[in-house]
Amino acid sequence: MSIFRKKDINIVVAQNESSLKRSITTVDLVFLGVGAIIGTGIFVLTGTGALKAGPGLMLSFVIAALACLLTALCYAEFASMVPISGSAYTYTYTTIGEFFAFIIGWDLALEYMLGVSTVSVGWSGYFQSLLAGFGINIPDQLTAPPGVVTSNNVEGVFNLPAFLIVMLVTALISIGINETKKVNNIMVIVKISVIFLFIFVAIFYVKPDNLTPFLPYGFSGVFAAAATVFFAFIGFDAVSSSAEETVNPSKTMPKGIIFSLLICTILYVVVSLIMTGVVPFKMFSNYQDHPISAVLKYTNQNWISGIIDVGAILGMTTVMLVMLYGQTRVTYAMSKDGLMPKVFSTVSNKTNTPFIATWIFGIIAALLGALFSIETLAEMVSIGTLSAFILVSLSILILRKTSPNLQRQFKCPLVPIVPILSIFMCLFLIVNLDTTTWTRFAIWIIVGSIVYFCYSIRKSNLNNM
Ligand code: ALA
Repeated sequence: MSIFRKKDINIVVAQNESSLKRSITTVDLVFLGVGAIIGTGIFVLTGTGALKAGPGLMLSFVIAALACLLTALCYAEFASMVPISGSAYTYTYTTIGEFFAFIIGWDLALEYMLGVSTVSVGWSGYFQSLLAGFGINIPDQLTAPPGVVTSNNVEGVFNLPAFLIVMLVTALISIGINETKKVNNIMVIVKISVIFLFIFVAIFYVKPDNLTPFLPYGFSGVFAAAATVFFAFIGFDAVSSSAEETVNPSKTMPKGIIFSLLICTILYVVVSLIMTGVVPFKMFSNYQDHPISAVLKYTNQNWISGIIDVGAILGMTTVMLVMLYGQTRVTYAMSKDGLMPKVFSTVSNKTNTPFIATWIFGIIAALLGALFSIETLAEMVSIGTLSAFILVSLSILILRKTSPNLQRQFKCPLVPIVPILSIFMCLFLIVNLDTTTWTRFAIWIIVGSIVYFCYSIRKSNLNNM
């Protein structure tokens, strides 16, 4: 039983000649990508980012985008070569081997499940801001987790709105209401529209004075903020999970991934420049829950601020739907391969969904969202995702050596430079995360390794090959 045993890439591709209808086009993919990408990162974490970097926050977005773009090129090569679902988990299973594939799957739980928790906290902030606009205030204890003090100087106990929205999303997914292409496309249009609304209204209130000094904390502030706002780009990899339903995936997939990333980068850079131009950056300490709409409140545009609250609430809901769905998909694949217990791939006859698995993940995600701060959660999501990115880039290097003749409709340019740079950029962002985050991550990986060696290695389907 070797921890490096692999699934044969040719068999995987052949087995997955899918019966799903191929109907997703490049435009749909871009919508899917932007739908999964734009959420709490831009609507909430920009506040924390601004406090760390000052007006130089836009540079932090450029740095985080660069890391993602380099990795995206590697993802695109994989997606064009192995156009099947399972994403990074499957890619690694065919290249580096079973143990690393398991660890990536374990990592992806940080990205997806904790991603849902993180976004739920962001959602809660905007929801409270919207309610406050109608004069409704939830008791402070029920708006924040323990350890976080609200603006009224009360320590939180349980973030109730965050908990409830995850329960609602879980209920929708468990009964099989996956957001359809149409609903997703509408939500994406709403999200982008409120961002444009923000840009076109707020730009008139920019005061150049607010933008100097541009780097109040130097480049170290910019780098720390880059690690924080990296979260804003997470989700582009979700595009690759729909490969089986995509028309001509080898061509459309790379385009879908790269275009959605570029669109978001441009929007993020413009938004961050404007927000730090309107509000002196230090004031974001008062606006951390809903910085984007707060910028407009600051300019007395209360109505528009309310519209932005609604757009952000809708937009963040789709991110949670996509992420919880992604979580159930990855564990479904791992369970099918024997690496996780069968319950994760048991599909309910009634709903035709992995019903029990969905509720297991939904309840855990909801509790974490109710009990932890957004910064703690987001950092865990980022470290999990960055380490998955590193393994994907590494896999591209390995596969170029081990299977040079596999058909690659899209080739990552400048190999080995791009994958190596991607690995370095991701490591660099990890280094800029909090040290407690590293410790928590190490514990998570140790627990994963114990599960692998006590359970998965013995139950793997490859034992029967
Ligand atoms: N990128 C996604 C967000 O910002 C996860 O919510």
